[in-house]
Amino acid sequence: MKLVFLGPPGAGKGTQASQMAEQFDVMHASTGDIFRAAVAEGSDLGQTVRSYLDNGKLVPDELTSRVVREMVLERTEDYILDGFPRTLPQAQMLDEMLKERGEELDGVLFFQLGEAAAVERLTGRLVCKGCGANYHKVFMPPRKDMICDECGAELTVRSDSSEEIVRKRLEEYNEKTQPLVPYYEKRGLLRRVDASPAPETVNRETKALISEMSAG
Ligand code: AP5
Repeated sequence: MKLVFLGPPGAGKGTQASQMAEQFDVMHASTGDIFRAAVAEGSDLGQTVRSYLDNGKLVPDELTSRVVREMVLERTEDYILDGFPRTLPQAQMLDEMLKERGEELDGVLFFQLGEAAAVERLTGRLVCKGCGANYHKVFMPPRKDMICDECGAELTVRSDSSEEIVRKRLEEYNEKTQPLVPYYEKRGLLRRVDASPAPETVNRETKALISEMSAG
């Protein structure tokens, strides 16, 4: 199964992708997570991408596509790509990479959410320092204040969660990522998910769509 999760920052792609990857036993491949891990390690990749992430800008297409090829496509056959592609050139590069391998995407799930809700979600997001699990101060609070339910480590706020940076990320999305909706829709690959209800409701809808797609 080869899926792409598309949508604005804060739509809940990461939350749903990690649950779906577990439920369908496929790799959850998030370019944002890969870049943040590289920054935390201080690797060459991390040093190159750090200022893009901190300023809410997209990492250059060639570099992002190379990372996806090496860290995802060459490692496994089943995956959910969360946050890639994010520009038309990236989508074209993904098509090329899949073609070289004689593979095709099974579908693209587009998580739809309005801007005000996206800002509310992103400015309240909490992330576990240990296992990376996602929470929200109001919508998905941890059982114990600032402590991860899963691993007990401390929760923190992502460096790109200020309202100013969130608005820049939304501008990048509107300008560069939104055109992927008609790109995939024309090819009959796009399925829409209403990302505005509670996480459990979005989870049910997402699971039903993936089951339908994998059934044929
Ligand atoms: P990335 O990490 O991919 O950020 P993003 O797409 O902006 O996505 P987010 O993780 O912010 O949102 P999400 O939709 O995954 O929502 P989430 O589930 O976390 O990218 C970060 C940066 O890396 C980019 O800015 C760029 O610099 C670089 N980058 C990454 N990929 C790139 C690419 N392909 N090309 C170039 N550069 C790239 O949920 C958000 C919050 O809402 C959480 O607090 C969660 O608990 C809560 N929540 C989730 N679902 C619900 C719900 N249904 N109801 C209420 N709250 C909810």
